[in-house]
Amino acid sequence: MKTVLCVVGARPNYMKIGPVIAALTASGIKAPLVHTGQHYDAAMNDSFFTDLGLPRPDVNLEVGSGTHAVQTAMIMQRFEPVLDEIKPDAVLVVGDVNSTIACALVAAKKGIKVVHVEAGLRSYDRAMPEEVNRVLTDQISDFLFTTERSALANLEREGIDPARVHFVGNVMIDTLKAHVGRSVPAAVTLKDAAFADGYTLVTLHRPSNVDVPEVLARLVGCLAEIAAATPIVFPIHPRTRARIEAAGLMAKLTGPRVVLLEPQGYLNMLGLMSAAKVVVTDSGGLQEETTALGVPCLTVRENTERPITVTDGTNTLVGIDSAAIMSAFKDVLATGGKAGRAPELWDGRAAVRIAQVLSAAL
Ligand code: UD1
Repeated sequence: MKTVLCVVGARPNYMKIGPVIAALTASGIKAPLVHTGQHYDAAMNDSFFTDLGLPRPDVNLEVGSGTHAVQTAMIMQRFEPVLDEIKPDAVLVVGDVNSTIACALVAAKKGIKVVHVEAGLRSYDRAMPEEVNRVLTDQISDFLFTTERSALANLEREGIDPARVHFVGNVMIDTLKAHVGRSVPAAVTLKDAAFADGYTLVTLHRPSNVDVPEVLARLVGCLAEIAAATPIVFPIHPRTRARIEAAGLMAKLTGPRVVLLEPQGYLNMLGLMSAAKVVVTDSGGLQEETTALGVPCLTVRENTERPITVTDGTNTLVGIDSAAIMSAFKDVLATGGKAGRAPELWDGRAAVRIAQVLSAAL
């Protein structure tokens, strides 16, 4: 029996791994799970395992937070003996977080095949830590599974043999389709905050937005202005909360028209997204999930590594300029926003295609 060791580390990995483990297991491949411990707060971690019905990790490396170098190095150091013990035929990593590159690198150096799920996405912005992780992970991967056709051209430009690349669709949408029927209604999450006219759902956590004080102040200013038009629901990532508090900006986000929440579980977040008038975000995952749900999304970034959400989906890149953000927001309120359609192969069967390729090849 072949073994594909699956790795997760941070929140955006959790909604990608469930269908992959299920499909591998169904095709007769053993799929043990390693958690690096990059995310560890209950709100960033535990609730996702429960909501998504993920298996308990077989190993937890418990690395926790640190600088990028410390975090990456610690994952590598602790992952190597796990490979010596489990001796998998391949290591499967998802997405673009520090855990992704760290475990891929250890496996590649030990001559173990590397499988990258969500390969080939590029923002072409090397200041983004995830972009460095994406480029490097793809270079050392043996199987590259892509979510949209544009990824192949990105990979070919970097000299990657197209024979290693397989366009399979989006495993995060497999998860969404499997769970959307169980999502927690927004009214339950929002309790007594009754927003009859709808609300804007906000998430922000990219270092380029929240770690630069001027940018953060500008974005919080926009949120205050948005709240004057429609109430805001804002589940806050721990780093964002810390930065907003440190900058003394919390006062701008208080009042009856702003609901600040702890980071939400997956099923609550699905409910909040589905009922939102518009989503304002810098998250990669939310750009894709709003496209799948048909909810307009304004992405507060200068670029996106997920262009299909803009060309086919409901996403609009609005940048980080206040006037541009506010004009795009008003446009959504006036027109209802982009309609969009489901991207090719975002049909809930991506993981099955991955398992077919791997069971034939390993
Ligand atoms: C990471 C990913 C990012 C992803 C995001 C989703 C990288 C490079 N970045 O960013 O792609 O979109 O996760 O959340 O891997 N913290 C806690 N509790 C936790 C985890 C983090 O309080 O459970 C705080 C710590 O202060 C930590 C900070 O958040 O220093 C940042 O965490 P880290 O894992 O380094 O990166 P994220 O910003 O979460």
